[in-house]
Amino acid sequence: MTKIIALNGSPRRTWNTAQMVEAAVRGAADAGAECELIHLTDLKYTGCMSCFGCKRLGGKSFGRCALRDDLTEVLEKVLTADGVIIGAPIYFGDVTGMVRNLFERIWVPGLLYSKDGSIAYTKRVKTALIYTMNCPDENFYKDLIGSHKATFERLVGETETLCAVETWQFDDYSKYASTMFDVEARRKRHEEVFPQDLQKAFELGRRMAGSDAE
Ligand SMILES: Cc1cc2nc3c(=O)[nH]c(=O)nc-3n(C[C@H](O)[C@H](O)[C@H](O)COP(=O)(O)O)c2cc1C
Repeated sequence: MTKIIALNGSPRRTWNTAQMVEAAVRGAADAGAECELIHLTDLKYTGCMSCFGCKRLGGKSFGRCALRDDLTEVLEKVLTADGVIIGAPIYFGDVTGMVRNLFERIWVPGLLYSKDGSIAYTKRVKTALIYTMNCPDENFYKDLIGSHKATFERLVGETETLCAVETWQFDDYSKYASTMFDVEARRKRHEEVFPQDLQKAFELGRRMAGSDAE
C-alpha cells in the first residue's frame, strides 16, 4: 500500500496550513494510501548542526542525519515513504523556522558534495509542498518556492507545489492590530476561495497516492 507522511509546519494545529495538509491527506486516503499526519510543533528538534556524521565515509550514519532528537524517527518515515506532504506558512518571506529546520535535516544527508552529482538517497519520494500566506499573489514568493522545489527534486523526488493566498489569520480581526486588511474581502475569500484551495489540496493528495482522478 502507498504510504504517505504529512507534516504540518504551522505552530497552529487547526488553521489554514493544517487544513490544507488535512485535505491533501483526505485525498490520498480516498485514493487508497495509508497516511500519517504529524504536527511539527509537537516535536523538539534543531536544524542541521554541521556535524557531518551524514557524510563521514564508513560512518554508521552515512547518508542519514546523525542527530538524535524528535525528528529522527520522522526523517526515517519521510525517506522510506512513497510520498511526503509538507505544509508551511510563510513567515517574513520564508517558511517557518520549524519547516526550515526540517528542510535542512532532509536535504543535508542526501547531498554528497560529489563531482558527478550523485546523492546518498536511493529511494525517490514524491513530494508536495503546500504554502499558505497573507500575500495576495504567490508569485511574490516564486524564487523561494522554486528553490525549494529544485532542491527537493534533486535530492528527494518529483515535487509539486500548491499555495493558498490571503488566508484568514484571526478569529476576529477587530480584536487585533490589523488595519492593513480589508476584513470583508478576506472573509469573502475565506468563504469562497479557500474551499477551492482545500479542494486543490484534496486533488493533490489523490495524485500523490497515484490516482489522477479529479
Ligand atoms: C510571524 C508571522 C509572519 C508572517 N509573515 C508573512 C509574510 O512574510 N508574508 C505573507 O504572505 N504572510 C505572512 N504571514 C501570514 C501567514 O503566512 C498566513 O497567515 C498563514 O496562512 C498562517 O498559517 P496558519 O493559519 O496555518 O498558521 C505571517 C504570519 C506570522 C504569524
